[in-house]
Amino acid sequence: MTAVLGDLSVRLENPTVKWVAAGAAATGGLYLAVKYSWFRKNPFYVFSGKTGAMAKDLVDSGINSYNKFFDQEDGKGVGDRILSTPEFVNKFYSLITDFYEYGWGESFHFAAREVGESFEASIIRQETAIAETIGLKPGMKALDIGCGVGGPMRNIVKATGGHVTGITINEYQVGRCKKLNKEAGLADLTEIVQGNFMDLSKVFKANTFDGAYAIEAACHASNTAALYKEVFQVLKPGALFSSYEWLRTSKYDKNNKIHVDVVDGIAEGNALPEVRTIEECIAAAKEAGFEVQYTFDRATTGGVPWQAAMKSARRAAYLTHILTGVLEFIRFAPKGTQAVHTMLLKAAVNLEKGGDLGIFSPMYLIVMRKPTA
Ligand SMILES: C[S@@+](CC[C@H](N)C(=O)[O-])C[C@H]1O[C@@H](n2cnc3c(N)ncnc32)[C@H](O)[C@@H]1O
Repeated sequence: MTAVLGDLSVRLENPTVKWVAAGAAATGGLYLAVKYSWFRKNPFYVFSGKTGAMAKDLVDSGINSYNKFFDQEDGKGVGDRILSTPEFVNKFYSLITDFYEYGWGESFHFAAREVGESFEASIIRQETAIAETIGLKPGMKALDIGCGVGGPMRNIVKATGGHVTGITINEYQVGRCKKLNKEAGLADLTEIVQGNFMDLSKVFKANTFDGAYAIEAACHASNTAALYKEVFQVLKPGALFSSYEWLRTSKYDKNNKIHVDVVDGIAEGNALPEVRTIEECIAAAKEAGFEVQYTFDRATTGGVPWQAAMKSARRAAYLTHILTGVLEFIRFAPKGTQAVHTMLLKAAVNLEKGGDLGIFSPMYLIVMRKPTA
């Protein structure tokens, strides 16, 4: 690798190579700038001093401190320190929200896909399916726990006519969500709150919601039972709560180094305290006082594995990776941008492996009811 880099720097001293490289960099930069600007619908946002979620000068230190956090844990996940640090998850989402929205869409989750079904259709079907499990309909109010920029919320409101309140720890996501809800004409049927879902009972009154759902968000909870207890408090008696959980399946073998490394990699690349087992999750629901209605692994349904979407996006991801480097090189993107993308690529590789090995599911559905008495 050092030899290759040395060779590259010698070649860059050649004026022709230098100009070709500069031309390629400028073209790449322009390409990405246009794409980002188009995406943000604001051609001048790149000059505003913000990358979107984070002030430009904080991106580098943000990703460095994120990576350092995991280095210190020597590949064993984030350990105990994250248990009281939702700020850590907040920092993660400040770093990656734009990348997710740019590369994946307004919904930050996976989907079980049928053969011939488009990615977008499968995402919407995944969302409406969870709304059906809680029986959301017009006149009802549901809580979306860890709502991202609100892709699921908007699709669910459109499909059901119910009202959805979302909560996310990340302020930038709140702004994006509000804007996108308004643009979609759904401001009246949606609300968005910035807050820690581990403190739901401080944010909302007891017995407020007719239902609740969490899509690939409870995995960030420092403790699943503690989160479920909070949800329990704010639900009306008899109301249903469904969650797509990120869990280790029964195929996970704690004595298999590959399994351990893949799951650690998933935790590291996604700001998770750990990846829990199915049994731990069901026990957490019961401990919180819920009646578990049913559970099933949605990852085992559909003809196309959920991780296939990442495999097909790989070429675009590598292209984006090169372009983030180019943009950083020409100082168009803030220092640290490519390092954030590197983290996301590592996360994607481990998620794919976890899916291929069948040791991990990002959509283990658990449906719970708060007892009426
Ligand atoms: C993978 S994203 C999923 C977002 C959304 N459910 C979707 O599918 O598009 C996880 C979400 O959980 C939120 N989150 C994580 N920890 C949180 C906490 N302690 N309190 C509130 N939100 C949190 C993040 O801000 C993010 O919006």
